[in-house]
Amino acid sequence: MSELGTLVDLLDRGAFVSGEDLAARLGVSRTMVWKQIKALRELGYKISAHPRRGYHLVSRPDKLYPWEVAKGLANRLIGRTIEYFDELPSTNQRAKELLNTVAEGTVVLAETQTAGRGRLGRSWFSPPGAGIWLSIIMRPPFSPFELPKLNLLAVVALSRAVKDVLDFRPLVKWPNDLYYQERKISGILTEVSGELGRMEHVIVGVGINVNQRLTDFPPDLRGKAGSLRMVTGRFVERKELLRKYLQCFEEEYFHALEHGFDHCLAYCRQYTATLGRPVEVDDGRNIYRGEAVAIADDGALVIERDGQRSRVVAGDVQPIFDR
Ligand code: BTN
Repeated sequence: MSELGTLVDLLDRGAFVSGEDLAARLGVSRTMVWKQIKALRELGYKISAHPRRGYHLVSRPDKLYPWEVAKGLANRLIGRTIEYFDELPSTNQRAKELLNTVAEGTVVLAETQTAGRGRLGRSWFSPPGAGIWLSIIMRPPFSPFELPKLNLLAVVALSRAVKDVLDFRPLVKWPNDLYYQERKISGILTEVSGELGRMEHVIVGVGINVNQRLTDFPPDLRGKAGSLRMVTGRFVERKELLRKYLQCFEEEYFHALEHGFDHCLAYCRQYTATLGRPVEVDDGRNIYRGEAVAIADDGALVIERDGQRSRVVAGDVQPIFDR
């Protein structure tokens, strides 16, 4: 953990701690302790100071500082390194710039994105502090044909994390969205680099709407976007959810490496917002209309119309309401 993280923990023990004690525990001078306390206050921590008794932590800011997210996270790969930014154009863009210099599993986080990117060239609304905007840098030993399943894995992990932390289960909308009561809670933008037949790097960019109220969304999104706060009716602690997501992602990923994607596919089939519905799917070249009848073992969506089945490996699914 970083020095600031250790200091936060020392200050959060219910009682006052003297500057001398803090200096001894951190192995630094009292002047350094004072400087670090000043730095923490600038980061939004409320710390009370008493001339004889010392310092103690009054409150933490609602920020995804790496030491806050890493607290109690025992992952061996995902989120071992967290690159944190107050503001970025796009975490996927930053992840791309870092690709060759950081370890696999590095997470790039920003409190806000000024040019957040969605799928199919859309933008992604990423206001400060209201959501979780992150990118995970992966070097999976899979062929590009397995990318649809890796996409699903990223959504399954999030559905599980939400269930664990908030006790409701959002549904997986193929290929990589999370929905609850017909509203989109989260979207994933996966970007790949590599040569033919090989994925060198995969950037899994995840946007999670956490604490927005309906009126916080721009008017064009209000009919379809949702947030976890809108579902639960209360403020949601982002760091706890993010930590759980990184844990679930790691579990799902190692499970897939060792045993394949069956478990992940079974989850998508069970907790689906897509199957059994009339849909229109645009894969960029063709538009398919029919009933979404299956998710194949390779992660493709199977659409049936007049007894004819088509497979779609990537695309945008819209429900059809006027059958
Ligand atoms: C979608 O269109 O549903 C995908 C949205 C993906 C948004 C996330 S937010 C973090 C990461 N950085 C980006 O610029 N986009 C992804």
